[in-house]
Amino acid sequence: MKRLSQPVLLVVAAVVVMILFSRDLAPIGNSSEPPAVAPALAPPAPARKTTPEMAAGTAWAPRHSYDYPAPPPGLPAGLPPPQPLDQYAVLAWNDLGMHCYQADFSTLQILPPYNVFWAQVIRRGQKPAVITQDVKLRYETLHVTDPVRHSNFWDYAAAYGWKLEPGVGLKGKRTSGTMEAAADHFVADGVPVVDFSDDGTWDPFPMFTVSVQDPAGQTLAQTVNVAPASTEMSCDLCHVADTPQGSMADILKAHDKNERTDLLRQAQAGKPVLCCSCHADPAMGVTECKDCELTLSSAMHGFHASKVKEPGRRLPKNVCHSCHPGPQTKCLRDVMSQSGITCTDCHGAMEIVAARTRTPWTTMPSCATCHTEDLQDPEEVTIESPNEHLTKDSASLYRHSKAHGGGGIYCCACHGSPHTITPAAMVRDNEQAVRLQGEEGPISKCMVCHLEKPDGEFWHFRKPE
Ligand code: HEC
Ligand code: HEC
Ligand code: HEC
Ligand code: HEC
Ligand code: HEC
Ligand code: HEC
Ligand code: HEC
Repeated sequence: MKRLSQPVLLVVAAVVVMILFSRDLAPIGNSSEPPAVAPALAPPAPARKTTPEMAAGTAWAPRHSYDYPAPPPGLPAGLPPPQPLDQYAVLAWNDLGMHCYQADFSTLQILPPYNVFWAQVIRRGQKPAVITQDVKLRYETLHVTDPVRHSNFWDYAAAYGWKLEPGVGLKGKRTSGTMEAAADHFVADGVPVVDFSDDGTWDPFPMFTVSVQDPAGQTLAQTVNVAPASTEMSCDLCHVADTPQGSMADILKAHDKNERTDLLRQAQAGKPVLCCSCHADPAMGVTECKDCELTLSSAMHGFHASKVKEPGRRLPKNVCHSCHPGPQTKCLRDVMSQSGITCTDCHGAMEIVAARTRTPWTTMPSCATCHTEDLQDPEEVTIESPNEHLTKDSASLYRHSKAHGGGGIYCCACHGSPHTITPAAMVRDNEQAVRLQGEEGPISKCMVCHLEKPDGEFWHFRKPE
């Protein structure tokens, strides 16, 4: 592996400074422990446990964010056995390293349950090829067969204006089904994964299988990966209430007071509030604001930038975990996080995320900001050029970028989803690579795809002749 270049060393120095700085800002708590909550802001934290309502199956989430337990360790039971490689190899991943959605939809909605599975099928050979024809792909989310039991999303879908059968996601997918063929990959869009197994265990890292089948239904290849989903958004650390619903009502009350809106009354009258009905939110396909100026991301990060710094608030050490899952979930679990690189090193602080010059979900960190060596060929680089810090369009996002084999293999196929770049801190994220090549880390064994050891060197992007 190439040694990291000088700019990266500078970044490492900056990282250390930033880590020290962020300690100053949020001296209390530790992101690996449940956040302590200041008595002035919240009732004393109960012992961390599953609430009786959860155990009885009548609640969808812990009553308070600090009630979330640690996710189950290790691989889940019931994974199918690994299959030896034959004519095809299949690589599958979730488009994001974490999908968050709310524990409760009765009052307002930021994001619905909505995972997106991707897969690429490679016909192995002397010249391997990415194929999308003549095969069918099936996906199956293990242990999440009946999401309706563990989210009230479907009780309120109609109130948000969606006609959905219970258990069906916004694009018509269930937690198991068939993937659609796209130009160079397969996709299952809007799979309604929830963070509770059928038996009620809270598990933000369920696993899914993808099987390649021939027209007769014979399985030709199979893989497994993580379908991350988490409700651990800890708004209630500051919007204190005794229930998730109460916390959501507090949020609307604050919005009404500050913006002279009438959202709480509307919600209580049976019309829960969809934030993107006003604020632009590209994650929901809404690109223009209606009756407002700020995108949802800009409004949320800009408004709360000062709040997460207020003295006396006891927040997770990593303040991003106040809203992003979370102290227990740990959405960031990639190879870099294990050397101390954290959210703000790539994304910047709240104010930078809030900048109105950014397009949320599009203007993102690029790997080439720090990794300049291997990814440098300006002719071939589909990811942003090394001397720019942010991606400028959707095509240059990491999750949409490709390399190697004629520039046809997604970065995520070999390296994993954003925030889970392998070797990741969690065994489940590494399982696909372990099954395919016997070891964790990027897909680096040529014979996963090539049937003969290639003469040439491995390249990400072809260097000019
Ligand atoms: C660090 C503490 C903190 C966290 C965490 C937090 N908030 Fe807030 N939020 C506040 C404070 C303080 C206010 C201002 C309350 C007021 O003006 O009465 C506020 C106000 C708001 C407002 C109204 C803004 C306006 O002026 O219109 C919204 C909407 C909101 N929060 C949403 C959320 C959501 C959603 C979450 C979780 C994803 C969240 N907040 C997490 C502290 C927090
Ligand atoms: C009826 C339209 C409407 C809806 C629905 C709405 N907002 Fe707003 N919101 C506004 C307007 C108008 C402002 C003032 C700033 C602006 O024009 O963008 C605002 C401001 C905010 C602010 C404060 C921004 C700042 O810097 O002062 C936050 C945070 C916010 N909204 C979050 C939310 C969230 C979260 C939801 C969903 C629960 C939501 N809004 C739903 C219209 C709306
Ligand atoms: C007060 C709550 C809150 C805090 C604290 C917070 N976020 Fe967010 N963030 C949100 C919400 C809500 C969304 C979802 C907005 C949407 O649906 O587009 C979001 C979305 C994002 C996105 C994707 C949208 C975009 O703008 O590209 C990024 C990146 C992000 N947050 C980074 C961060 C980082 C980094 C931190 C810590 C420095 C942080 N957030 C802290 C509430 C918060
Ligand atoms: C190594 C750099 C890096 C670190 C560290 C990092 N991110 Fe990201 N993040 C990215 C990149 C790159 C994307 C864009 C991924 C894409 O769409 O291809 C992204 C996307 C996001 C998004 C949009 C949705 C998604 O999941 O892709 C959110 C929200 C987000 N980051 C929050 C966070 C939070 C919170 C942390 C810390 C817990 C964090 N990020 C740490 C690089 C990083
Ligand atoms: C903020 C700078 C920064 C960004 C942005 C960044 N990285 Fe890194 N990355 C690092 C540093 C520093 C290391 C070295 C960590 C170590 O060796 O302990 C590293 C290590 C790695 C490694 C392990 C390499 C090895 O030698 O084992 C991989 C793989 C990797 N990064 C991939 C990515 C990908 C993919 C992206 C884009 C999604 C990305 N990085 C974005 C700074 C960054
Ligand atoms: C994930 C699948 C995959 C892996 C793993 C992989 N390759 Fe490839 N590779 C391809 C594909 C697909 C092509 C395109 C074949 C073509 O059309 O020429 C290719 C092409 C190549 C070529 C160009 C062949 C030519 O004739 O132009 C070389 C050289 C190569 N790979 C080397 C390697 C090496 C060395 C490794 C291991 C370090 C490796 N590859 C790992 C999929 C892979
Ligand atoms: C065919 C599999 C494959 C694909 C596709 C792939 N990579 Fe890699 N990548 C690897 C392997 C293997 C390594 C380790 C290379 C080495 O040992 O030199 C690596 C290393 C890296 C590193 C770490 C380099 C360092 O400084 O040590 C980064 C960053 C990276 N890749 C980013 C990307 C990005 C961004 C894409 C998509 C544009 C991508 N990779 C596509 C297999 C792949």
